Amino acid sequence: MDPFRGKAQEKDEWNLSPTVTYRHVHSPQSAGVHNPLRIIGLIDMDAFYAQCEQRRLDIDPTLPVVVLQWDSLIAVNYPARKFGIARMTKLKEAQKMCPNLVVVHVATYKDGENEAKYHPNPDNKSYKVSLDLYRRESTKIINIFKSTLPTAEVEKASVDEAFIDFTVPVQQILVERYPELAAPTPSSSYHMDSELPLPPLDISWHPSCNLVPIGPEEEGKEGEEDSSTSASGTSTSKQVVTWQDVALSIGAELLFKVRNEILQNLGYTTSAGIARNKFLAKLVASYRKPASQNVLANAAIPHYLKSMPFQKIRFLGGKLGAVLAEEYEAKTVADLLSIDLTEMQTKFGPDSIWVYQVLRGIDHSEVKEKPPVNKSMLASKNLPTPIRKDGDTLQWIRVLCAELAVRLNEAREAGTVWPKTIALHTKQVGESAPRSKQAPFPFVRELTGDVIVAAAMKLWKELHGTDAERATNPNAPNMKIINIAIAFTGVEALEQGQRGIEGFFGPNLPGPSKTRPNIGQIAEDPTPEEDTEISVDYTCPKCSKTISVSVQRDDDAEMRAARIHAVKAEHEDFHFAQELSRQDKLVIGGGKRRRSPGPGTVKKRKKDDGILGYFQKK
Ligand code: CTP
Ligand code: CA
Ligand code: CA
Repeated sequence: MDPFRGKAQEKDEWNLSPTVTYRHVHSPQSAGVHNPLRIIGLIDMDAFYAQCEQRRLDIDPTLPVVVLQWDSLIAVNYPARKFGIARMTKLKEAQKMCPNLVVVHVATYKDGENEAKYHPNPDNKSYKVSLDLYRRESTKIINIFKSTLPTAEVEKASVDEAFIDFTVPVQQILVERYPELAAPTPSSSYHMDSELPLPPLDISWHPSCNLVPIGPEEEGKEGEEDSSTSASGTSTSKQVVTWQDVALSIGAELLFKVRNEILQNLGYTTSAGIARNKFLAKLVASYRKPASQNVLANAAIPHYLKSMPFQKIRFLGGKLGAVLAEEYEAKTVADLLSIDLTEMQTKFGPDSIWVYQVLRGIDHSEVKEKPPVNKSMLASKNLPTPIRKDGDTLQWIRVLCAELAVRLNEAREAGTVWPKTIALHTKQVGESAPRSKQAPFPFVRELTGDVIVAAAMKLWKELHGTDAERATNPNAPNMKIINIAIAFTGVEALEQGQRGIEGFFGPNLPGPSKTRPNIGQIAEDPTPEEDTEISVDYTCPKCSKTISVSVQRDDDAEMRAARIHAVKAEHEDFHFAQELSRQDKLVIGGGKRRRSPGPGTVKKRKKDDGILGYFQKK
């Protein structure tokens, strides 16, 4: 079946100009993702890390700059790209290609320092990379999106990009600008589900817009390959204007406004795409770069997609793409349009409707801000020299914990969040799965790296024992750890129970007192003044058992917290284990205890999982 055989069929297949009614304008949410006036943008920062470093160091934006992580380039700014330098280029090579190249190494954490710094000659053997600067800038960017467009939905998609659903603010402007779109009144000759009157004959596109051409005759006008039609005041296309086009042009104005806010406030240039859905917005965002605003009107969708090598499409670049390419000897989207939905679903399972739709530029996924629940923070290091003995461990745990402390404290500046658990993951040569161990992470008012170190070291001992223990255990394999990661999971607003112990850990730690502990709280035990050890009690809220914890008198608040935490965590582990055996989900293997899916176990999802799922379901 040829989807382009007839005009009517093409319209139907691509869903290019569905009927627009007053209801679509006046209650945009009612039709949700099916609203024909849906306008979605994707903003992506140009050479993001490079721009962050340029701003930090106040480097002239026209100079060629690369950002280095050890000896790999991780960001290349556009002036440097003019010399042919790309992300894959070796540093030495890049410096030959461009002798004046400005090279900035990312900040790194060094053992013993509690913040990342720009060290002169960091090396992978003893430093850990910090991406804190980029994360912070990312947060500022998202906040500007939200404050500039309070009625738009903003979804952060990665460190340097976000989707914006412009539908609601666009429709507000639409009804202000076009009085003929006023809502029906009882005396109106039309009602909410009536089709809108004819749209204006012309549109003025914001001058920043690159309009993707609707057909080959529009292409190459400026003598350039793959040239788009640059907006020049009015609509350049011969196509009849639709209300979708009008909405898109208003969306493009808002898109420019928000991109300009980023430029004015933070000094960053961005590239953006705007279209009827997320998939197309993301795709068209890279149509022209940098500092560009690419607009894909509905009428331009078929021409734009048909010539596209389909394996360039996200999620079609992997195994599924390879299978499709082979099965249909296909290269472009057009080559796959002959597969009808039945055939697609018979071959690749019912979920492959997703592929069928994406090839036609249809995507009903929502732009939705991810709720900040169950957030996790993970600091990880691939070890150039494996950890083989206890003595190798602490330096890396300290470096990872310093990073987590910075990140958690930053998150706490924005809101009173706290992690529920801390988890340690290690990957060992010869073991297929990483080992993981987690424990609750109790609240402390002053969070430092050392508090986290104490908790992480305890997990380390539980996971790997000590040199002495391993030496006496004939079954213990030689330790050879090549990756170590520490994660906070369930980072969210503090719960009442967690806050309850805050007083104890505060800087003005009260002296020993006679009070007995309350359930779920920690209190001190009566202990003679002169003792160097103080005993404090912890009462478990689950079983009401009271456990005494010894702390040193000269321990600071953090150290006490860590010691108490260790005991508390151990006791909670006991409950955890009990619960596991009750649920009969305990998996014993390789000397480690796992539950599937375990709370707080950070399972790294392979990028292709979703698509492979299609095959598996088949
Ligand atoms: N990044 C990375 N490693 C990768 C991909 C990306 O470290 N394999 C980092 C880059 O340093 C980059 C940021 O993530 O600055 C955003 O990535 P991306 O948008 O893909 O590239 P940019 O460098 O921003 O370049 P572009 O202008 O092409 O978007
Ligand atoms: Ca980018
Ligand atoms: Ca990006």
